[in-house]
This record gives sequence, C-alpha cells and structure tokens, in this order.
Amino acid sequence: MRTHYCGQLRTEHIGETVTLYGWVDRRRDHGGVIFLDLRDRTGIVQIVSDPQRTAGSYEQAETIRNEYVLKITGRVTQRPEDSLNPRLPTGELEIYADQIELLNRLHKQLPFQVAAADTEPVREDLRLKYRYLDLRRDRMSQNLQLRHNVVKAIRRYLEDVQDFIEIETPILTRSTPEGARDYLVPSRVNPSEWFALPQSPQLFKQLLMVSGMDRYYQIARCFRDEDLRADRQPEFTQLDMEMSFMSQEEILQLNEDLVSYIFKTVKGIELPRPFPRLTYAEAIERYGSDKPDTRFGLELVDVSDLMKDSGFKVFSGAVASGGIVKILPIPGGNDAISNVRIKPGGDLFKEASEAGAKGLAYIRVRDDGEIDTIGAIKDNLTDAQKQELLNRTGAKAGHLLLFGAGAGDMVNKTLDRLRLVIGRELGLIDPNKINLLWLTDFPMFEWNAEEKRLEALHHPFTAPHPDDVKDLKTARAQAYDLVYNGYEIGGGSLRIYQREIQEEVFEAIGLSPEEAYNKFGFLLEAFEYGTPPHGGIAYGLDRLVMLLAGEESIRDVIAFPKTQQARCLLTNAPSGVDEKQLKELYVASTYKPKS
Ligand code: AMO
Repeated sequence: MRTHYCGQLRTEHIGETVTLYGWVDRRRDHGGVIFLDLRDRTGIVQIVSDPQRTAGSYEQAETIRNEYVLKITGRVTQRPEDSLNPRLPTGELEIYADQIELLNRLHKQLPFQVAAADTEPVREDLRLKYRYLDLRRDRMSQNLQLRHNVVKAIRRYLEDVQDFIEIETPILTRSTPEGARDYLVPSRVNPSEWFALPQSPQLFKQLLMVSGMDRYYQIARCFRDEDLRADRQPEFTQLDMEMSFMSQEEILQLNEDLVSYIFKTVKGIELPRPFPRLTYAEAIERYGSDKPDTRFGLELVDVSDLMKDSGFKVFSGAVASGGIVKILPIPGGNDAISNVRIKPGGDLFKEASEAGAKGLAYIRVRDDGEIDTIGAIKDNLTDAQKQELLNRTGAKAGHLLLFGAGAGDMVNKTLDRLRLVIGRELGLIDPNKINLLWLTDFPMFEWNAEEKRLEALHHPFTAPHPDDVKDLKTARAQAYDLVYNGYEIGGGSLRIYQREIQEEVFEAIGLSPEEAYNKFGFLLEAFEYGTPPHGGIAYGLDRLVMLLAGEESIRDVIAFPKTQQARCLLTNAPSGVDEKQLKELYVASTYKPKS
C-alpha cells in the first residue's frame, strides 16, 4: 500500500520507511550512485540507489528511464548539507530505495519532455493531442488542482455557510436564449425533432424557484456554438446560482462574500471590501467598455460638446449625426508613440480600423509644451479650441491625445482597444493587482443593426429597473456583471416574475405572442402558479480559474479543451458517423465539400 504521496514528505518523516508510487521525472547516474526524481500529482521527491546502501534496488535502478512507472519502498533520510534543494518542498530529503518495482515502462518515445525541469515550450497542438502527458506536467497538474480547490471552496461556502443545494438540470433540452448558436441533437424516437444542449440552465433554475427550492446552485456545463477566443470554449463550465426573496443588494453582498471566501481559501488573499461599483453608463463614459480593466488609468474624455461647433467637419459632423467625439489622453505618449504607428499602415491605426474607425486624429504636446497636430485639426481648430481640449483632458508636456469620432459604439470600441494595447505597452498594468468590480444598471436592450430589432443585453428574463417600467425600450435593467482585471467573470440579474411584464419584454425584442408562447409558454404558465421574486448569477468558472492561475487562456485550466476550430485533437472529435446512424435519425447531410 502507498504510505505517502511524493510531494507530501517532510523532515518529520525522517527515519520512516515509506512506499511511494509514481513516474520517473528524471534519472541521473553519478557513477555508482543513481538518483531518480519520483513524481506524482503532488510533487517530486529524490530517490537514491547505490550498490552499498541499497543493494536490493541498484540493479533495477540501472534499467530505469524517464517516465517509467515505479513502486518504491525506502527509508526517508536527511540530504547531506551540500545537496539541499531549496526550490523543492521535499528538497531536504532523499529516500534510500530498498526496493524498486517496475510497474510499467515506455514502449514509445515521448512526443515531448514531461520533466518538471524541462521548460522548453511545446506546440499547443502537440500538447492537446497528447493531453494525458501534458497533464502530467507540473504547470497543468497545478492548474487542475487549483480548479478543484476553487470548486471545493465554492461548495463549502454555498452549502455549509449559505444553505444552497445543488440540483442538476437537463443537458438534452430546448433552446435557451443566451444569444449564441445552439448545439443540436436529433431525436431518434421523435423523428425530425431536435434537442438543444443548454447554453445555460437559466430557465430551469428559475422554475426551481417556482418549486420553492429557494437557493440553488450547480457546477453546470454549458454549450455555445460561437466564435472561439482565448477566453471562450464551445463547452464551458458555469457556477450557476439562483435565489428567492433577495434584493439586488443582498445578492451582491452574498456574492462578494463568496468570491472573498474563494480568494482567501485558495490563494490566501484578503480582498478589499466592498468591491467597487460602476454603472454601465459610467463605465462606457470613462473606459469605453462594459468590462473595463481598472488596474490602470488612461481614462477617456468626452469632448463632443466642445467639438460640435468646430470647423473640423469630421468632428462636428459626427456630433451632428448623433455620434460623439472622445479622446484617449496618453501621458508620455508623445515620445512613446510615433506618427508611423498612428497613420494608415501603422499598428495602432490597424487596431482602430478593426474596431470600425476610419482614421485616427491626434494632438501631440511636445516636451517644450508646443502643440503639434496633423493637417485637418491644425487648420480647422482654433487655438482656443485646442487649448480647451488640453484643459479638458489635463494634457501636459509629453502627452499624446488620440481622437475617436463617429457613432458612439464604434468610438468606444476603438478607444477601448487602443487603451488596452497602449496600457500594456507602456507597462501601466501591474500583473499582481487584483481589481474586482461590479458593473450595474445595464440597459435592458441594445439595438441589433443587422436584424433591425432590439435585443436583450443580458437575456429576456431580466427585470427592468422599477423606476423605468414606463418605457421598457430605454429602461435600465436590474442586472450586474462581475469584472476581474478586464474580464467578465460573472453576470446575473433580478428576474421578471410576472407574466405581463415578461410578455411585454418578449414583444419589445420582436417576438410575436405566438412565437413567445411557442418557445416559452411553459415559463409564462409557471409564472401563474405563485412565482416568488427571485434573481441569480452565473460565473464563468474557467475564466475565474484562468485568472487565479495567472494563465492567458481557459484552455490551460480545462482538462480536455477544444481548439479554436472547436476540435478535440485527442479523440479527433467531431467525426463522421455511419450512414446507418444517420438513417436511424432521419438526418441527411447537405454539405458539399469545395472541389
Ligand atoms: P452569461 O451568458 O453572461 O450569463 O454567462 C455567464 C458567464 O459565463 C462565462 N462565459 C463563458 N466562458 C467560457 N466560454 C464561453 N463561451 C462563455 N460564455 C460565457 C462568462 C460569463 O460572465 N444565464 C445567465 C446568468 C444569469 O443571468 O444568472 C448567463 O449564462 O464568464
């Protein structure tokens, strides 16, 4: 029987005989003495074998290679003074191996080195194809352990402190409206009908409130067929919560407690309370984003009122047609950022044009205070107007002011992107800072220009602000997001629990009463049987763990993730299926490969 895990041995175990199981991280032969680093998921410990002190194991030790699987029984001893390893928690110890049992060897060459000391970067496709080996590596096994610790802390807090109960909701279900495409599953026994995999448990958790479950949570798998990025997977995990009879304020407080508990338990970090809050309007005004990274400044300044009568048509025209003019003021930007980068062909110009901007006007304040502008601004703004811009933005010698002009959404998107790129480049972001921030007072709807209709900003079950119910179209929602260093890690709301209001919201987003009834009749009906006021939130567990682990992609905190092309390289899914299976499902493909 195993007596200990490798990484758990300490000086208090000196003198004990232990039995360990693990993989050989590294084998070194020092002419007559063989050292093996034995690794399991808890860490590494050094094993020693030589012909004098461990005659019983030496012959075997000579045959051992990296990644062989061993059982070792031996005596825990103090390492000599000159071979202590302060970088390892077990670095004061070594184990004299009385017995080494080879449980399995390698039958193929490793596709990449697994050893802890090997820091050579490995191609991600290779890592994903041989994920089981990748997960043996220290970084990944630590990430999975951290993820487990986060989930454990969540369960302890929600169950033991707050009396939540975990309830599972269906995976084979109807389409849930979180705004992405559905993954569909054909039903064999109901020909030509389809299940959708849940984009979230939203409707079920609300129905659980109707059932009186009162405080529900679930570590829930969600599925969304959307374009993938480093912080998005087609299948991801939410910490999903719903509670009855609580105000927005009470929900936010409980969630601050929960998040603080997670940080304290998992990282030993005491978060400052209360978490700062920004309204949606303020966040857009100051940062151009509803998930601002507030670890650094570079706040935007709206100068639409100053520019609406300016002689510069790009600015005055933007305001006249309902748009805005905003500035990103960059202290020190005059030296740090050259004209080449701002003009067509430059990287900052490209960044701006990807966000929809046509150009990037600027003003430089030279180190001697002299104001320098490009042609159009130079000729069309008066000196007084230029001075006014400097006053408004607090610009001093060395500043660069970058302008965005046009439709509000586009300007904000442009300056938000530039702010992040430049903040990073100028080293303004302290990677050790943790900024958690509530965003509140989201609008109920946003305009979908493509489909020419209003769209729910969160989802159509979000309750309007009680002060705004007269005009739902412009109403604020009782919705909130939790933002962590510029990532949206969670979002939720108080819900509508009256049928009439729910119907009004469906109408506002362009659902006819028939469509609404067809899709959500079960919910509308449930509202008639005594629905308590309720609200909730869902966290992106993968994103939270990614940030806690200091990783840049959620793929690094998911055991078996998909690639950006939504493929699993390990199992090679998705894959074709037998014609027979398709027939049984009454499904035929219309796909024609490009010749
Ligand atoms: P929302 O759609 O905002 O809300 O999702 C909640 C959180 O889930 C994370 N998330 C993702 N993580 C990885 N990959 C994805 N593709 C992905 N999409 C979303 C984000 C996000 O904040 N039912 C509502 C919650 C509620 O109202 O209670 C919902 O799903 O971190």
